[in-house]
Amino acid sequence: MNAQSRSYQVGVIYGDGIGPEIVREAVKVLDRVAERFGFHLEYTQLYLGGSSIDRFGVPLTQETVELAKKCDAVLMGSIGGDPATSPWYKLEPSKRPEAGLLAIRKSLGLFANLRFSRLFEDLKDSCPLKESIAREGIDFVILRELTGGLYFGEHKTEVVDGEDVATDVLSYSDHEIRRIAVTAFETAMLRKKRLTLVDKANVLDSSRLWRKVTADVAKDYPQVTLDYMFVDNASMQLVRKPSQFDVILTENMFGDILSDEASMITGSIGMQPSASLAEGTFGLYEPSHGSAPDIAGTDKANPLATILSAAMMLRYSLGEEEAAEAIEKAVEEVLRKYRTPDLVTQNAQIEQVGCTRMGDLVAASL
Ligand code: IPM
Ligand code: MG
Repeated sequence: MNAQSRSYQVGVIYGDGIGPEIVREAVKVLDRVAERFGFHLEYTQLYLGGSSIDRFGVPLTQETVELAKKCDAVLMGSIGGDPATSPWYKLEPSKRPEAGLLAIRKSLGLFANLRFSRLFEDLKDSCPLKESIAREGIDFVILRELTGGLYFGEHKTEVVDGEDVATDVLSYSDHEIRRIAVTAFETAMLRKKRLTLVDKANVLDSSRLWRKVTADVAKDYPQVTLDYMFVDNASMQLVRKPSQFDVILTENMFGDILSDEASMITGSIGMQPSASLAEGTFGLYEPSHGSAPDIAGTDKANPLATILSAAMMLRYSLGEEEAAEAIEKAVEEVLRKYRTPDLVTQNAQIEQVGCTRMGDLVAASL
């Protein structure tokens, strides 16, 4: 960053399916907010997933990794296609779009994935939970470990005694748990100071190590209340009483599953932003949702998760807190009158708008 004329290098991965449409709206909003707050954003287009397979034959190239490393942050749409129809899924698993996503997370060291669930005041009627539950409010973040566990353990399928046997290894080391536990406690310190470690410590050794290491890190954060919850119970508590959560810390696979559930209770999966952070300030920012190939190109996608991810990028990687808050406020304002089709509402005053218009509205209210 140049202190005089604050300027940042942002890698942009448009991605597949609805990716390009939602990223376009986020870039529109970023350009507007940069103008308003007097900084400059320079974009480098990068390819990942299906669009990289189409161009280069592989879901991630070394060049993309190198270019991304030169950026201050990367903004990304979603990647992947319809497994039933897309030719990408005729390739072996290690060459498919998702493999590129996992590889970029690993090569950029993005170990901490923050997925936020906040029920906006004006979206209470879009919340699928009972009104009495929505009224209590929803505002928590899931810290999902992103570069370890089942996703990155050994995967193999072999024939043993004449039958197919498939194996996926779940393994965590002390340091992998410790560094994200630190991020989780730091995150809790800036919020309501409540941390819930979600695991399956009644069954898994890896979960027991998570408890041990997290309890150890907790000694440095006496102001934070730490409790533990089994993942099956947590999935139930998320719909029974989501207001009890502030920061949820969990391993990769549990975080993947719980964060989808967590996104829906705030109205739509189209609302959940995410930040994947490395050591230092570098991060990759993407909506938690997928590439929704069924609605790609129809202008029906909700760009708000991507726009809110761009706000996260301003906050965590670029240090532009005021600009981040301005985007969040603009989104809140626009939601008072407008919704994309994924946000169900009975309110006749609300106007339904498409992806492009939603981006325009957020940019205009900045
Ligand atoms: C996510 C996605 C990915 C994951 C898939 C596409 C590999 O579901 O970011 O949550 O499982 O991490
Ligand atoms: Mg997922």
